Amino acid sequence: MTTHVAHVIGARPNFIKAAPVIRALRDRGVAQRVVHTGQHYDERMSDVFFRDLDLPTPDVNLGIGSGTHAEQTAAAMVGLEREWLAAQPALVVLYGDVNSTLAASLVAAKLGVPSAHVEAGLRSFDRSMPEETNRIVSDLLADLLFTTSPEATDHLTAMGVPATRIHFVGNPMIDTLMAQRARFDPGPERERLGLPATYGVVTLHRPSNVDHDASARAVVGALDALAARLPLVVPLHPRGAARLTEAGLHDGERLRIVEPLGYVAFLSLVAGARLVLTDSGGIQEETTMLDIPCLTMRPNTERPITISHGTNRLVRPDQVAAAADDILAGPERPTGTRPPLWDGHAGERIADLVAAWLAASRA
Ligand code: UD1
Ligand code: UDP
Repeated sequence: MTTHVAHVIGARPNFIKAAPVIRALRDRGVAQRVVHTGQHYDERMSDVFFRDLDLPTPDVNLGIGSGTHAEQTAAAMVGLEREWLAAQPALVVLYGDVNSTLAASLVAAKLGVPSAHVEAGLRSFDRSMPEETNRIVSDLLADLLFTTSPEATDHLTAMGVPATRIHFVGNPMIDTLMAQRARFDPGPERERLGLPATYGVVTLHRPSNVDHDASARAVVGALDALAARLPLVVPLHPRGAARLTEAGLHDGERLRIVEPLGYVAFLSLVAGARLVLTDSGGIQEETTMLDIPCLTMRPNTERPITISHGTNRLVRPDQVAAAADDILAGPERPTGTRPPLWDGHAGERIADLVAAWLAASRA
């Protein structure tokens, strides 16, 4: 079996990015295997997305679970090596910048299997983020690099990647958003959670915000200040739950803490929100497409196009209240220009390029 493409997915954002690529390759009759590393495993961090997005059940789940970076990456490498020695894919397709992406990239390179990196070239230029290391290594080792923005292409060119390997295809996460958009309906979600018509949505999971007592306290202070202005709902990522709770975060009438939500439920709430406060990568992009004001609680972003073309603004925790006041005094749905090629067809472009690559490699 040497003609199939192997997808590697493991964490929440991977599922959302892979869905349109897997669908478009299926439509083109390309044989595929989907490997779930098991990096995310809770029903609400994994299974719900397979149902919501009609993703195929993975052919294999490596069950790596949580651990330190080395434990998690090593477990994924061992499982992927075993899988690919047996299955012998012609090409592996990796998504984003999580530890499963890094592991897949290293294993493919050592086995001599070409890899394609979807969402290549993003850079925060902040080496303290684990994702930055994962991006750099996956880009260095990839044979096909699919970018979501012109800056990403520039970063790859600057690191010496030959232009023939780089393809600016648009954004598969936005494909999923556009495909599912008709299902977004804030009303029932608001009712279910007892939210008023005007509310904000908050998500937080970056280590720089939730892994240390001091940063967790600053984050909780920012949320309290924001909740004084606007009722909030916080679908809480499991990473931050314990430390943020210790730092004083608690469920209340103006600050509802809920479990992580499925894709349609979450984006329904975002689509109806007055503003979003986040440190997520993907949510910066989704709010840009939905014209929802977004405050990103980080010192930098690997997605500057969401600032230049979208609704995003970087803030420190102590700037959240004033930035929210600006937003609340401004238009409800500020419109930017859409980032180029964020048009719902990135998955199809990727599939065309992959199919052509497979045909050329067989010739
Ligand atoms: C990972 C990615 C991050 C991405 C995020 C998306 C890395 C280095 N980080 O961060 O880039 O933005 O996913 O959500 O790959 N946990 C559960 N249940 C789960 C999964 C995790 O309880 O299903 C808890 C565990 O306590 C675990 C912690 O969350 O230790 C962190 O999980 P991990 O996958 O290591 O990193 P994330 O913070 O989720
Ligand atoms: N998301 C979701 N439910 C939630 C929170 C986020 O479906 O409760 C979606 C969100 O819309 C986006 C993706 O998960 O598509 C982003 O994942 P995350 O923030 O975990 O990772 P990042 O993008 O920061 O890597």
